[in-house]
Amino acid sequence: MAVVDAVDLVREYRMGTETVRALDGASLSLDGGQFVSVVGPSGAGKSTLLHIIGALDTPTSGTISVDGTDLADLSDDESSAFRRHRVGFIFQFFNLVPTLSAWENVALPRLLDSQSLRKARPRAVELLDRVGLGGRVDHRPSELSGGQMQRVAIARSLMMDPTILLADEPTGNLDSATGADVLALLAEVAHDDPDRLVLMVTHDDAAAQVCDRVVTVRDGRIAD
Ligand SMILES: Nc1ncnc2c1ncn2[C@@H]1O[C@H](COP(=O)(O)OP(=O)(O)OP(=O)(O)O)[C@@H](O)[C@H]1O
Ligand SMILES: [Mg+2]
Repeated sequence: MAVVDAVDLVREYRMGTETVRALDGASLSLDGGQFVSVVGPSGAGKSTLLHIIGALDTPTSGTISVDGTDLADLSDDESSAFRRHRVGFIFQFFNLVPTLSAWENVALPRLLDSQSLRKARPRAVELLDRVGLGGRVDHRPSELSGGQMQRVAIARSLMMDPTILLADEPTGNLDSATGADVLALLAEVAHDDPDRLVLMVTHDDAAAQVCDRVVTVRDGRIAD
């Protein structure tokens, strides 16, 4: 069974009297254990697609299922539980909390899930070790390089052991060598677990080489 099954997704935004169609009938099926990149021109609908898959947004029409669950069937509470437990998000600007240490940032999803930060520390340290930052657990974001901050964000995205990892231009703010390291890490994370999908929006030409599949979005549709 596919991890992600999207059928005829349409997302319209009302802007006064005008309607913008960010997605215009996008259909897509994605398997686990894969590192998939989403490419296409600016404004094509890539971020919108990612947000709908992560239940951060809902389609105007069409269906989106993750692991066989139709996201439209989820109540508000179930939908937020889905985001907390099943999805990990990685952003271009890392979105780390500046006042928290690396390990506290990684452990944060547990706190948001009503667990104690302290209890989550061993797992957070283990994940930081895994992304090559075992020696930086007590550093704050301002005491880390861009590539290291993105590694912390990747570790954080893995804290709840999600099925899907969604990354929107994770290398957009990194130099090419650091970006390549981050891509390699994301590929490793995808390939480590046959049930996990890593889906990444990118403008990075190097991405195609390390990804298992490249999905092109054009004018709100899948073009491949
Ligand atoms: N909240 C919103 N309200 C109105 N229009 C929106 C909104 N979000 C996105 N859009 C429009 O939907 C279209 C698709 O936007 P989206 O952010 O998905 O593009 P993208 O492919 O991620 O582009 P980029 O590569 O520049 O990030 C664009 O025309 C955009 O202006
Ligand atoms: Mg975008």
